[in-house]
Amino acid sequence: MRRLPTNALRFKRRLLRWFRSQGRALPWRRTRNPYHIIVSEFMLQQTQVTRVASYYPKFLRRFPTVRDLAQAQPSQVREAWDGLGYYRRAANLHRLARTVVRDHNGTIPDRPQELQSLPGVGRYTAGAVATFAYEHRTAIVDTNVDRVLRRVFRPRDDGTQAMWSLAEKILPTRRPTAWEFNQALMDLGALVCTARSPQCDACPVQPACRTGTKER
Ligand code: ADE
Repeated sequence: MRRLPTNALRFKRRLLRWFRSQGRALPWRRTRNPYHIIVSEFMLQQTQVTRVASYYPKFLRRFPTVRDLAQAQPSQVREAWDGLGYYRRAANLHRLARTVVRDHNGTIPDRPQELQSLPGVGRYTAGAVATFAYEHRTAIVDTNVDRVLRRVFRPRDDGTQAMWSLAEKILPTRRPTAWEFNQALMDLGALVCTARSPQCDACPVQPACRTGTKER
């Protein structure tokens, strides 16, 4: 698919308008601190938003900067992670902090390719840091976004690479708007276009959706 899908502009306009009034005011959306964003993304990898919202501020009070985290003992990091589970994430985050201090002078990289070379950072997390912290025009596709885009656009090719290309193609040009758009896709997937029972009747993009309009 080389050109924009015909419903793309309408979808974007509607999604952004909805997000500006109904988007969630999550703590990691008030900051552009790359270290804070990385911490939130590691926590969100396997833990629900509401739970992360209560652990994230505590963790950052304990380790306010990437250098604080790098200097901590593994047992202290594990203790601060207590309650979130999947401790491998904490171990990776700790290794990441040490790598950033050692190899990047304490600055979290901004390019997805460099980010992906850090411990525990895959394609999604690299993109999330690039867009959410640095406001780069970078696509992100997690399970929720993948589902939303499939339903809205019904692409003929829905392989992984094709979905990333589609996400990239529909991104707004202006960087702060790309930030909002990526956050908005996540909220639509989490709040409205859910896996089991999508709320098409209450969906802000329903008139621009190839599933919500076709099957009803
Ligand atoms: N999951 C991962 N990143 C997120 C974000 N920025 N907002 C909501 N859920 C998320």
